[in-house]
Amino acid sequence: MAIFNLKINGNTQEVDVDPATPVLWVLRDHLQLSGTKYGCGIGQCGACTIHLDGVAMRSCSLPVSQVGDQAITTIEGLSDDGSHPLQKAWVTHDVPQCGYCQAGQIMSAAALLKNVPNPSDEEIEASMNGNICRCGTYLRIKAAIKTAANS
Ligand code: FES
Ligand code: FES
Repeated sequence: MAIFNLKINGNTQEVDVDPATPVLWVLRDHLQLSGTKYGCGIGQCGACTIHLDGVAMRSCSLPVSQVGDQAITTIEGLSDDGSHPLQKAWVTHDVPQCGYCQAGQIMSAAALLKNVPNPSDEEIEASMNGNICRCGTYLRIKAAIKTAANS
C-alpha cells in the first residue's frame, strides 16, 4: 500500500492503496465517485472514461501510481450543477437509454470539444469510436455533441 494525494475535481484527496490499483476502483471504492462506470476493464468500451489534465483516459487501465500531479476530472466534476453544454444537450436530445455508458460518452465528448470546438461528423465519429453503447444511442450522441458545439 502507498499514500497518494490525488487532485480530483478541484480538490486534493488522499488515498492509501496498492500502487497498481486502477484509478477506476480508487474513484468508485475509495472515494465513492460512482459516476465512472466499469464496463470491460480492459480499455475497450469507454464506460470508465475520465480526464487527466483534460485528456480523455480509460480509468480502468490507468494505475493510480501513474497519475502523479495530473488533475483528474470525473463526470461529477464536469460541472457543479449539470450545466455543462454537453449535459444540457444530452437532456435536450434525451440521449440515454439504460444510461450505463453515458458518463463515459459525455467525458469523451467533452475532451473532443475542448480540442475541436466545432467538430465535423467525421471528427465526432473518429473521436467517439472507442465509446461503446450497447443500446445504440450513437445518432443521438452525435446530435447532442453538435448542439453543444453550437451553444
Ligand atoms: S471499463 Fe474501461 S474501457 Fe471498458
Ligand atoms: S445507453 Fe445503454 S449502453 Fe449506452
